[in-house]
Amino acid sequence: MSQKPCYILGIESSCDETSAAILKNNIVLSNIIANQKVHKEYGGVVPELASREHQKNIIPVVEMALNKAKIKKNTLSAIAYTRGPGLLGSLLVGSSFAKSFSMGLKIPLIEVNHMQAHILCHFIGNELKPKFPFIGVTLSGGHTQIILVKNYFEMKIIGSTIDDAIGEAFDKCGKMLGLEYPSGPKIDELSKKGNPNCFKFPIPKVDGYNVSYSGFKTSVLNFLNKKNKKFINQNLHDLCASIQNTLIKIIIEKVKLSINDTKNNTIAIGGGVSANSSLRDELKKLSKKHKWNVFFPKLEYTTDNAAMIGIVGFLKYKNGKFSSINSKCEPKLKI
Ligand code: KG4
Ligand code: ZN
Repeated sequence: MSQKPCYILGIESSCDETSAAILKNNIVLSNIIANQKVHKEYGGVVPELASREHQKNIIPVVEMALNKAKIKKNTLSAIAYTRGPGLLGSLLVGSSFAKSFSMGLKIPLIEVNHMQAHILCHFIGNELKPKFPFIGVTLSGGHTQIILVKNYFEMKIIGSTIDDAIGEAFDKCGKMLGLEYPSGPKIDELSKKGNPNCFKFPIPKVDGYNVSYSGFKTSVLNFLNKKNKKFINQNLHDLCASIQNTLIKIIIEKVKLSINDTKNNTIAIGGGVSANSSLRDELKKLSKKHKWNVFFPKLEYTTDNAAMIGIVGFLKYKNGKFSSINSKCEPKLKI
């Protein structure tokens, strides 16, 4: 006899995207994302504005997700939400909504770690999946981590940034070049017409599988301080390509090292920066050469989205891992 399907509503509100998704088991029926444009003029996320935007967006986004999935709220089996890490004010909007909705509907509540979700998005759908144990690499605006993933719920960070995250470095360098926030996608695009070896920036030496991006950022700033606007405009493509090349080299070196040491050659990449085309090309080249199995998420599951929260919700639902209504949001929640 076939089992009754499980319908999960996923809610993501950890930073500046308000998102709701509906999953039928491991299949995404809808994944609605409201991007907050208000931060562009400030060159970064303003926490207070982010919470206010979440407040405006959360109900319309959930309604759109239900409508697109063509299901009624009474069909839902459980609600999964991001408990952390993230901005407290932003997390509170999503978690308060999820708690109230689950109480109203009398269905279970499931808390999700945002960084685990960036890795477990690889379990959405019926395509080939990474086999446990594997190496997870999270590359986002707030995190840069190399993780040993033993199973769905057991993960251990073996390396991380000791200062800035890779996405933050993309965004800050973009700001120095006069690009809009978030500038990662713009640098990616402009780099396509540039020479990645035109300008040389130093690769920092950091212990183990840890990385550092702060020194690199300062070296770009010092370099640009000696140049004028005209130089930047005339060399924009080469500057972007050279900056991107170094940012990617820094993390790929450590991924290589972790693969060699752990003798585990299955790697799953996640987070906003995993959308980067040059990072993908480089890792594909290396995986061919060294026979690695590299998994990249579909582009819609790279930057923050609720489908990745929903898939963790589904995996936890199947394993009876529910949460209490008293569970508090954790801005610094660890993996
Ligand atoms: O995972 P994410 O959506 O949010 C956090 O959890 O932080 O990641 C956002 C980051 C931003 O820094 C953005 O510039 C970067 O991902 N990003 C990219 C690309 N697309 C998004 N960086 C480089 N290349 C891209 N194509
Ligand atoms: Zn994220």
